[in-house]
Amino acid sequence: MKKRIALLPGDGIGPEVLEAAVDVLKSVAEHYQHEFEFEYGLIGGSAIDEAGVPLPEETVAVCKAADAILLGAVGGPKWDQHPSELRPEKGLLAIRKQLDLFANLRPVKVFESLADASPLKKEYVEGVDFVIVRELTGGLYFGKPSEQYVNQDGEQAAVDTLFYKKTEMERVIREAFRMAKGRTGKVTSVDKANVLESSKLWRKTAEEAAGEFPDVKLEHMLVDNAAMQLIYAPRQFDIVVTENMFGDILSDEASMLTGSLGMLPSASLSSSGLHLYEPVHGSAPDIAGQNIANPLAAILSAAMMLRTSFGLEAEAKAVEHAVDQVLQSGKRTKDLAKGSEHCTTQSITEEVKAALADDNAISNIMTAYV
Ligand code: IPM
Ligand code: MN
Repeated sequence: MKKRIALLPGDGIGPEVLEAAVDVLKSVAEHYQHEFEFEYGLIGGSAIDEAGVPLPEETVAVCKAADAILLGAVGGPKWDQHPSELRPEKGLLAIRKQLDLFANLRPVKVFESLADASPLKKEYVEGVDFVIVRELTGGLYFGKPSEQYVNQDGEQAAVDTLFYKKTEMERVIREAFRMAKGRTGKVTSVDKANVLESSKLWRKTAEEAAGEFPDVKLEHMLVDNAAMQLIYAPRQFDIVVTENMFGDILSDEASMLTGSLGMLPSASLSSSGLHLYEPVHGSAPDIAGQNIANPLAAILSAAMMLRTSFGLEAEAKAVEHAVDQVLQSGKRTKDLAKGSEHCTTQSITEEVKAALADDNAISNIMTAYV
């Protein structure tokens, strides 16, 4: 299979973890006889530095010419004082909006070997396996007006608008229901319907969608309760669907069940079929360039790309299995290591590639014998 992949490294640890994922993808291509072509694009702070804007048009063109997009991370203190239009985060929001990447899937799966790496007790997190489906192109992040101003009484003020059209709610909620069908068949819709108008409409929309999926169970949960339930009884969840900002907050919280934010991959799905994959973590400027970042979230994001964009299920499983093998053998990057011994970004990537090669050798032998 021949595929073209757009690579947007971004800032901080973005380039390091992205290179790790590319390395693994090259191994996959080699073992399974695929051809992956990589094309780079600027985004975030590095795009501001080199091209004057957080999302140059050229980057959008590179993405549109690709079959899938893999992104590192954006942001850093260097650009903190910039006006909002010239902040790195604007680049990420703009690509999400321009490519209509409305459904952000964030799987939260606790690897058996990492159950004791979570700050929560092992018996709470063992077996956790759910997906947060976060709406990604609406809500507070994109509502107009959004501005700082001086109020009539002369005091400084600021406003953000939580705006959603019903159709925007509908499409992401439907996506959640479709996903639940292939799993245990339960959707938890998270909102704040006891206060917000947008949440009341969200709840109504979820109820209507439920009618189209009679074999999926729908439950509603208020977001403050959901924040508590995620810690108290995380195994109750299968598919969690929620609006943009709630999803942002809950997914960072949920990452701690897995031991580290460095473990969570994500896929952002569009209506056009051109999807974007990125680790949930940020650019971690404090550890950038030190070869200590955990690349597993980026590598697992690449696995999601193989499965979802290219339909390469066996290859995706092989990457996930290789990551599992490496963790089972006790290898850890600094974020997960208990003692002072730990793997570097590059060395754990080599371990994943070695596990992938071993797996491949075994399956080749098996095929030879069948
Ligand atoms: C994420 C990030 C972004 C978001 C930031 C960098 C704009 O936190 O992908 O979760 O809030 O969506
Ligand atoms: Mn976030």
